Amino acid sequence: MAGPRDPPGPDVGQPRRDREVASRAGRRADQGPAPRSLGEARDGRVSALTVRRAVSGDLRDILRLLADDHLGRDRDDPANAEDAAYREAFAAIDADPNQFLGVAELDGAVVGTFQLSFLPGLSNRGALKVAIEAVRVDSALRGGGYGGQMLSWAMDYARGRGCSGMQLKSHRSREGAHRFYERHGFRHSHVGMTRPL
Ligand SMILES: CC(C)(COP(=O)(O)OP(=O)(O)OC[C@H]1O[C@@H](n2cnc3c(N)ncnc32)[C@H](O)[C@@H]1OP(=O)(O)O)[C@@H](O)C(=O)NCCC(=O)NCCS
Repeated sequence: MAGPRDPPGPDVGQPRRDREVASRAGRRADQGPAPRSLGEARDGRVSALTVRRAVSGDLRDILRLLADDHLGRDRDDPANAEDAAYREAFAAIDADPNQFLGVAELDGAVVGTFQLSFLPGLSNRGALKVAIEAVRVDSALRGGGYGGQMLSWAMDYARGRGCSGMQLKSHRSREGAHRFYERHGFRHSHVGMTRPL
């Protein structure tokens, strides 16, 4: 899997504004989840993911993944990928050097996504932190280790940018995701709170 320590290349965390790569997922939302065989080699081994910065052509796939979830399905719909609200939000993320919206590809199809927000601060001699959110793996592929590969990539990338810690908030109902994060070294060290504004 490509990572930030790999030799520089177009797929390794670099903006690809010069070539807007349309998604090659080849699958519409109304066609249902990806076949379970996606990513399985003939000998049954699981393929490695390629992680890269998202381009605007990935928007529909990212929305499909965000909606592919018990909390996300009422919030987002890939059919609305052309809406100005999504286009403008994507442009704002893409233009912000403290944001990294990632997609993970398997055999040319977008099967995962996550967003990193880099958080500069004064505390601890200006230690840079990073928040990870909007983490999704295609529901047809969950439990196959792809989320782990994607998270490891994200942690390596953030380390490469000098981050001293990663934080996240996750809805209480996501018990499986909490086990997943704990297995990857996250601890319930703080209490997160939210409120509408
Ligand atoms: C959480 C998630 C990104 C992990 O990706 P993944 O490819 O399933 O992860 P891995 O295969 O590397 O690890 C599997 C672990 O993920 C967790 N998990 C969470 N939701 C899961 C699901 N629907 N199916 C399978 N595993 C899930 C489990 O802890 C599982 O470990 P277990 O088998 O010991 O219980 C993915 O399951 C997902 O997109 N879930 C729905 C959205 C979500 O909760 N995102 C996190 C938001 S904070």
